[in-house]
Amino acid sequence: MKRVGILTGGGDCPGLNPAIRGVARTAATCGWQLVGLRDGWRGALEGIERPISPTDIDDLLVRGGTILGSSRTNPYKEKDGTTRIRAGMEKLNLKALIAAGGEDTLGVAAKLFKEGLPVVGIPKTIDNDLDGTDLTLGFATAVQIVSDTLDRIRTTAESHSRIMVVEVMGRHAGWLAAYGGIAGGADLTLVPEYPVNVKEVLAAVESCRKRGKYYSMIVVAEGAKLLGHDGKEISEASEHAVDDFGHVRLGGIGERITEILKKEGGYDARNTILGHAQRGGTPNAFDRILSTSFGVQAMKLVEAGDFGKMPALRDGKITVIPLEAAVANLKTLTAELYDFAKVFFG
Ligand code: F6P
Repeated sequence: MKRVGILTGGGDCPGLNPAIRGVARTAATCGWQLVGLRDGWRGALEGIERPISPTDIDDLLVRGGTILGSSRTNPYKEKDGTTRIRAGMEKLNLKALIAAGGEDTLGVAAKLFKEGLPVVGIPKTIDNDLDGTDLTLGFATAVQIVSDTLDRIRTTAESHSRIMVVEVMGRHAGWLAAYGGIAGGADLTLVPEYPVNVKEVLAAVESCRKRGKYYSMIVVAEGAKLLGHDGKEISEASEHAVDDFGHVRLGGIGERITEILKKEGGYDARNTILGHAQRGGTPNAFDRILSTSFGVQAMKLVEAGDFGKMPALRDGKITVIPLEAAVANLKTLTAELYDFAKVFFG
């Protein structure tokens, strides 16, 4: 029986397990054996198998995270990375590899394909910043989590007439902040793509007060650009640790805005960092369907020998695009969507 390996890399998110299930069921009908690889590219480099049992597969639809484990291991940072992946595939007798991931994991997949490896991708990330697909798996659930949390924050904000700052994930792209803010009724949303200055933050809160709303909710992406009175950026990196792909670990901009609201506006303000709650828990119905479709389509690509590609969602339909097209540029928040969010600012 031909064997195909599957790995999940980068930050986990709800929907990875349903995608694995979609691959597994399709593999079985095409006569392939599916082999799980442990912890992203690390499992491929070292040829470490994570067996997927038939009972695992039954439960995967509703399970958050990834049963395969994940890591931010970058094979191109390792000595002889490509050679070791070839060796890992040989050791496990794999004829093809499926990699589920975001820009980093799929960036590696695209490079490996160029070097002749039979690789197919599956687009995932709560950041929704992969190009060529309208949505990545995990994003819809994360938006739901942000929206649900804003519903809870709203009642306590109202009770105390407070300004609530809510920091969400998104280093370079503001999709989650923008959609979460629209769904949860944010009075202002700050994103990495479109800088906002301190004056505008204070003005948004004042505008709420003027119409008799004494509380406000401000959503801030962790990579948001805030400008001071001098026009210079006030962004915070709480730690300067970088991962294998060179990304700085961000966090702290929400606290910074909260302090400004207290000191410059005299408001009673509080900061909430949603953190990894945004990536946890079970996928919502939309993500279950999208992830399953991506998994089924990815395995069909393997069966057809159509490598170097990934399934994508375009205009409501599942289609197939080259991995290279997905990772060439980061898909950042459009001005159109941010303008829509702005209708409700202040
Ligand atoms: O990869 C998506 C992401 O959720 C980013 O939005 C966030 O900055 C990062 O992962 C956090 O990663 P970690 O799990 O390493 O803290």
